[in-house]
Amino acid sequence: MMNMRQLLTMILTTGVWLLATPLPTGEAFAGAGQQQKAVLVTGASTGIGRNIAERLAAEGHFVYAGARKAADIEALSRIENIQGVRLDVTIQADIDAAVELIRSAGRGLYGIVNNAGVIVIGPMAEIDESDLDFVFDVNVYGPYRVTRAFAPMIVGSKGRITNISSMAGIATGPAYGAYSMSKHAIEAFTDSLAQEMREVGVHVSAVAPGAYNSNGAASYCRRRNEKAYDPDKSLFPELAGEIAALCGNGEKIQYPEPDPVADAVLLALFADNPKEHYLAAPDQQQVGYVIRDVIQDLVELNGDQPFSYSRDELVTMLDEALSVAE
Ligand SMILES: NC(=O)c1ccc[n+]([C@@H]2O[C@H](COP(=O)([O-])OP(=O)(O)OC[C@H]3O[C@@H](n4cnc5c(N)ncnc54)[C@H](OP(=O)(O)O)[C@@H]3O)[C@@H](O)[C@H]2O)c1
Repeated sequence: MMNMRQLLTMILTTGVWLLATPLPTGEAFAGAGQQQKAVLVTGASTGIGRNIAERLAAEGHFVYAGARKAADIEALSRIENIQGVRLDVTIQADIDAAVELIRSAGRGLYGIVNNAGVIVIGPMAEIDESDLDFVFDVNVYGPYRVTRAFAPMIVGSKGRITNISSMAGIATGPAYGAYSMSKHAIEAFTDSLAQEMREVGVHVSAVAPGAYNSNGAASYCRRRNEKAYDPDKSLFPELAGEIAALCGNGEKIQYPEPDPVADAVLLALFADNPKEHYLAAPDQQQVGYVIRDVIQDLVELNGDQPFSYSRDELVTMLDEALSVAE
């Protein structure tokens, strides 16, 4: 099991990708009659969004790459098959302008990758309401706003919506409750949207990355350091000290590049029968953390109530689910 320090470091920083069975590449999908598709990726200036945008473009798709700064929009537009688009997911006018731009370009829109996201860290009982608003505004209301605005185009193309969740959307732990709440919300958003959109021929998936290189921690620490937060005043000094040390010391842990996240996004966007949930973690330890947490929840929910299932019945259910997944 991971200890608190490892968990915090993982969530704050952002390794070797061990994949027993390599995921199909875009080339492998080409056989499925796939032509160039237009896909919008939000938060494409850095990290996972940038990796996904570049990968889709390299596979021959056309990418509308959302970014907030002029320099990022220009840099993205210089890449073949990518058009940078001004898109702050908290600003409705940006979203409306992006809809207009993409609609008038005449390519249609096959896919959305709701990737833009921010991190907030702190003990749950002490987190500022403004921080909770901030993380929900970007991570939850952002995908909701973008999805709602582009839904007519996606339904029109019988396309795909992929939401970038997190391991923290499934399992959680100390100090990243606010971020984890936002990613749990994205999992619920995905589940509900997927069932509704299925009726109109649209597939919706959530991809939950493990820890990968990105600008997420640096952005968080910059924002946090502006607030003159005093860990000595915390009810949880050990936890607050850990967080302060991670930002204050500029601790830099090298994580892998997020190529496996792009692999999973390609599956979600182009597989014939995409799953609703993909986990893209860089090592067995992170996968074990998530899977054990899910099993622990299952066991707790099943026990101490009059309608519990027996061990054999649970194993049969697991076998049935595994046979559907194969
Ligand atoms: N890296 C990981 O280990 C990891 C693990 C699990 C999940 N994730 C998820 O992956 C996604 C990408 O994060 P990342 O790790 O790649 O971090 P990142 O490098 O900081 O990228 C975040 C992206 O979101 C953008 N963004 C922030 N606020 C925005 C807003 N209001 N409107 C539009 N875009 C906004 C950023 O743009 P600016 O450059 O303009 O700030 C940037 O392009 C997030 O949803 C994150 O929760 C990451």
